Amino acid sequence: MTLKVGIVGCGVVVRKYHIPGWRAVPDAEIVLACDISRQAAEALQRDFGLPAICSDYRELLADPSIDVIDVATPNKFHTPIVLGALEAGKHVLCEKPLATTTQSIRQIGKAADQSKGLLMVAQNMRFSPAAVAAKQFLEHQDLGRVYHSRVHAIRRNLMPPQRGFIDPDLSGGGPCMDIGVHALDLALWLMNFPKPVRVSGKTAVNFAKGYDIPGAWGEWDRDAMGVEDFASGFIHFDNGATMILEACWLQHQKESEDFSATLFGHRGSLSWPSGEYFTAVNRTLVDSTILPVTGLRPSHTEEIVAFADAIRNGKPSPVPWTDSLNVISILEAIYESARLGREIRVEI
Ligand SMILES: NC(=O)c1ccc[n+]([C@@H]2O[C@H](COP(=O)([O-])OP(=O)(O)OC[C@H]3O[C@@H](n4cnc5c(N)ncnc54)[C@H](O)[C@@H]3O)[C@@H](O)[C@H]2O)c1
Repeated sequence: MTLKVGIVGCGVVVRKYHIPGWRAVPDAEIVLACDISRQAAEALQRDFGLPAICSDYRELLADPSIDVIDVATPNKFHTPIVLGALEAGKHVLCEKPLATTTQSIRQIGKAADQSKGLLMVAQNMRFSPAAVAAKQFLEHQDLGRVYHSRVHAIRRNLMPPQRGFIDPDLSGGGPCMDIGVHALDLALWLMNFPKPVRVSGKTAVNFAKGYDIPGAWGEWDRDAMGVEDFASGFIHFDNGATMILEACWLQHQKESEDFSATLFGHRGSLSWPSGEYFTAVNRTLVDSTILPVTGLRPSHTEEIVAFADAIRNGKPSPVPWTDSLNVISILEAIYESARLGREIRVEI
């Protein structure tokens, strides 16, 4: 059966990653692409030879020949489009974050549970070689009780200049929501999603209103900049574990980008993506490294292939909405804590 795909949002992520991803799926076809900007839709159609474009996503939902809706608009529009698509019985792949509030995630979750369509959140980092290796390793090698984790999504001068990222009404937040969501999801997935119970957070605009750090992805509108460029959080989980999360777009640091997580357990620690594994055997310290799995395609392609496989073979969602509820409850609480200046209790 050919999977007929409709895309909503014809921006950077679709151009760089989703179109190559869908083209790697046997018997899948992108039949319609939608963007509120006619120019963006036309450019995508021209560059990738797509058969048809439109400017209202409801056209895709009303088309009975379309099986899958791929949502890649700015974050704010994810909720109405995903809800509409699930109600129309479509399978839905939605870019991260699924939504920017727990209220919206719960609403989407209810619709997903009632829909005949399958919903997957596009957490592509889980499909990268180092992440797959770490997950496989942890399925057989117990770290003991993981009591702490350190999670980074920190960049030196990689700030997305598009309005959809810097206008809080469109993005729902800065780097915490944009890239914190990637590293946090990855770390929680490796930890088997313990439940967060208390969160302290801090957000700040340290550089993005000025001109000190040149953005490698181009200039942004300083006046429109309404989100943080730095966020940190301290999280307590119901199993007694804690986590420190740091997310930023601009910062004086050595690495251009550091996406990483280290899990500390009583029997060993493991770092992603370096694969460093430290333990002690019979009072002897041991350092070792697990290697990334080989033979994988780019992570977005593996993600889309996994989604198509789940649809075709009746498998559960490779990244279900319940995982996003856990992730967003933490990010939401970081913002709330930063706003109120106190620790926030979380219930999921
Ligand atoms: N997983 C990843 O690696 C990754 C990377 C980048 C972005 N993203 C996510 O993908 C999404 C899009 O990011 P991007 O970088 O492509 O942004 P972008 O700004 O380049 O593109 C977004 C496009 O959506 C269009 N749009 C806005 N509202 C719309 C609507 N209601 N209906 C149809 N089209 C609409 C805009 O005109 C624009 O062309 C965001 O949610 C972002 O978080 C994920």
